[in-house]
Amino acid sequence: MSNFLVSKCICQEKEFTEVKEYAVKHNISTVRELQEHNYCACKCGLCIPYLELMFKTGETEFEPGASINRKS
Ligand code: FES
Repeated sequence: MSNFLVSKCICQEKEFTEVKEYAVKHNISTVRELQEHNYCACKCGLCIPYLELMFKTGETEFEPGASINRKS
């Protein structure tokens, strides 16, 4: 098992902890709103499913594939 955790938007160099703080400060609760602020998730989009999980669970670090593995 890998020790690597997904914890940032690589394209826009934002740690999910920073994104979470920004979202709280600006009353943001969706990825779309982050994109409208041009803050995060505006380029390749690979971080989007992890950000959706962040909004859902409050977590800021995820095992790779968490967005697929946790779907019910
Ligand atoms: S990793 Fe977030 S847009 Fe590419």
